[in-house]
Amino acid sequence: MLPDPDPLAGNPPPLDHSPLPRGLLPDGAEIGGGGRLSIAGVDILDLVAEVGTPVFVYDEEHLRRRCRQAVGAWSGGAAYASKAFLCRAMATLVHEEGMSIDVSTGGEMHVALAAGVPGERLVLHGNNKSEAELARAVDAGVGRIVVDSLDEIDRLERVAAAAGRRPRVMLRVTPGIEAHTHEYVMTGQDDSKFGFGLASGGAAEAVARLRDRDCPVELTGVHAHIGSQIFSLDSFEKAVAALGDFFLPLDLPELCIGGGLGVAYVAGESAPTIAEWAAAVREAAAAAGIGPEVLLSAEPGRAIVASAAITCYTVGTIKHIPEVRTYVSVDGGMSDNPRPVLYGSGYEAFLPRAAGAVRPRTVTVVGKHCESGDVIVRDAQLPDDLVVGDVLATPVTGAYGHSMASTYNKVPRAPVVFVREGTSRVVVRRETFDDLLSLDL
Ligand SMILES: Cc1ncc(COP(=O)(O)O)c(C=O)c1O
Repeated sequence: MLPDPDPLAGNPPPLDHSPLPRGLLPDGAEIGGGGRLSIAGVDILDLVAEVGTPVFVYDEEHLRRRCRQAVGAWSGGAAYASKAFLCRAMATLVHEEGMSIDVSTGGEMHVALAAGVPGERLVLHGNNKSEAELARAVDAGVGRIVVDSLDEIDRLERVAAAAGRRPRVMLRVTPGIEAHTHEYVMTGQDDSKFGFGLASGGAAEAVARLRDRDCPVELTGVHAHIGSQIFSLDSFEKAVAALGDFFLPLDLPELCIGGGLGVAYVAGESAPTIAEWAAAVREAAAAAGIGPEVLLSAEPGRAIVASAAITCYTVGTIKHIPEVRTYVSVDGGMSDNPRPVLYGSGYEAFLPRAAGAVRPRTVTVVGKHCESGDVIVRDAQLPDDLVVGDVLATPVTGAYGHSMASTYNKVPRAPVVFVREGTSRVVVRRETFDDLLSLDL
């Protein structure tokens, strides 16, 4: 059981009856004459009739376009942060589009390698990499290992010496910046489990260790990741400014600013583009005296995948409690989207049969789990004619939904479908009840 975060507390946001903003849908979304939604030429209700609900539907061309934007924006290239969403098909797509892949555990590394991505194209993260994870990374020739602690350096020295290899590493630094975002996804402040602090002298000590003649690694750059879902480019600019004095004397070829670019989830939000993000970092780097010969790189996750997908559910019950609220229960919930419970994140809801309709009815969309906290959208606006059996969708669910999914209450995990040029393909099948038993001995 998760602690009850009281998701129904607080003042409701101002209510807006307007249709779902088009910008929250994937690039390939179109609303047909009758109001029906299609994505990449695939009618969403027809797709749902075929594969069932809940289901994650990703616009493949949207994903590919965002990858290309990231590769084009950064002089040092870009790594896709696979924690946002990973499966074999995604790893293959990202690799085909020229991004390398940030993996933060042995499991993510395993999936990327299983998809055929060469080790050289991987960047291994993690604040507690095991000796086995490091050994696999060294063995697979992982492109860069981002070292996070002195204990990890001890382990890496042993592993590299045993393998007779000299892995390339970057140093994870916490620049002492408090990004404007939820405290659970803030990672650049001094008080952090990640990386080496600038202020504490930890980063300088780690450089000394890594540059010791006997240390069998090659230090190739500095890395900082200040947090996630950040709208203000100012936070990235501050991070670069804070890193400049440390980075410059090291005379290293690469500075990576991590991921963290925010995306709009609800009406009224807007986020910088990947190109604007890169331009702001470039300018801040120049202002800090970091010349164009330094490769500037980044690791976006959310900005690549979030708005590429929608989740479709089926409405099972509509319960009106007079003068309290109307609960609309769907066949998924916190097991396919834990972000509202974890961070109080907001989402929109709409009906794919009437995707352009006004939404005057205020309801609370909840899942089927045994928790009052199992809320997907607290004050959702939906059309008046909503009925049991309707397919209800939430947009911008491509990041940290499927990847954070659980089988809580033994609810099988939802499948993932990619749509492109009028066709669909299931890239992760629906979990079955038998799958739920597959680990039991
Ligand atoms: C080291 C690192 N890089 C990149 C990311 C990706 O962040 P986002 O999905 O916000 O772009 C994360 C997210 O936690 C991270 O920890």
